[in-house]
Amino acid sequence: MNKIQLTVNGSAIEPTVEPRTHLADVLRDQLDLTGTHLGCEHGVCGACTLLLDGAPARSCITLAVACAGAAVTTIEGLDEDEIAAELRVAFTREHALQCGYCTPGMIMSARDLVLRLDHADEHAIRVGLSGNLCRCTGYAGIVRAVSAVIAARRQRGIAAVIGAGRTSLGPVGSQPGAIAAAASPARPAATGIKRSGDLALGSLDPSEVMPAKSFDASFTVNAAPEQVFALFGQPKTLAACFPGATITDLPAPDRIEGAISVAIGPLSAVFRGSARIDRNAADLSGRLIGTGRDRRSRTSTSGQISWRMLPIDEGRATRVALAIGYSLSGPLAQIARDGLVRDLASRITTTFAQNCDRHLNGTAGPTETPEPQRLNALALLLDVARKRLTGLAQRLRGP
Ligand code: FES
Ligand code: FES
Repeated sequence: MNKIQLTVNGSAIEPTVEPRTHLADVLRDQLDLTGTHLGCEHGVCGACTLLLDGAPARSCITLAVACAGAAVTTIEGLDEDEIAAELRVAFTREHALQCGYCTPGMIMSARDLVLRLDHADEHAIRVGLSGNLCRCTGYAGIVRAVSAVIAARRQRGIAAVIGAGRTSLGPVGSQPGAIAAAASPARPAATGIKRSGDLALGSLDPSEVMPAKSFDASFTVNAAPEQVFALFGQPKTLAACFPGATITDLPAPDRIEGAISVAIGPLSAVFRGSARIDRNAADLSGRLIGTGRDRRSRTSTSGQISWRMLPIDEGRATRVALAIGYSLSGPLAQIARDGLVRDLASRITTTFAQNCDRHLNGTAGPTETPEPQRLNALALLLDVARKRLTGLAQRLRGP
């Protein structure tokens, strides 16, 4: 993982990224700047166009590490921009959008044309926008809108800016200081640290597991922190509470071998692997480090889950604070977008919490161990979709 410095919409940030992560994913997944759309992810459709050091660039084929030191402007950063404001009005008036999917990228490229073109030349506008595909409008309204903005500005005496104010060609590294930063992005030291794809099954040294993604989660259990901590020390019971998990062997007190089943509609995967549990009774914390592989899809995963038991309700209940880090490599990694994984993890922890609660409060029966539950990711996905649609409907309805 590399820590890089970027200025995004005027704010300095230091995201940590994998060398293969493209800029659009950093903006959308880490910064929630979802105005940068992804269409083809091949540099063809232009939906992901943004400004890098002031020049339009395709963020789907731009590696984030190559942007170290650059200034990034997304559509969200043009809220107060005068030209973007004029384009928004003209796009609305000329019916230059229908679904709006291409519109953020279209506005980015159009803004560059408004800055650069001497006059409203339809051919030059069509050529300038030829890297932005729109599947809805037929382009006529878009060209009319851009022409109108250029014509109106020139009429008001606002001249074109040669080269849109850029002093050198090419976005990244075009600014002084950016070249050095881009040429030497922070690279992991040559310590032999391996990524998930390199991990052999059973390689459970924490120093060898370097999660590509991480997030925090928490849940509440109606039992004292010491009771919940003790439950986390019983691998079989813990696995039975976890949807889809089974244990095949316990080769040592702190070692688990087993599998987690995931079913997504007709696709199913069984990640078989091993895990190690470290516990610290002094502060009621612990950590699970695991690796696994689904042989059929040839997808590997590795990760760490750290927990800490925090007393609430005067010690009668516990908030379990989790820090989850994971890496996925292989075909299934293609469909596991960050937001989706986080939503799924939130659903899984809810079920896990309910199972722990049932077990600790005796509703599973005094000697009864909870039955392992298969993780039905399709049901979870539908629930995630339902949740997102409800959120969207609420946003559309307004406060
Ligand atoms: S998503 Fe980047 S060009 Fe299509
Ligand atoms: S408005 Fe739908 S793709 Fe352009």
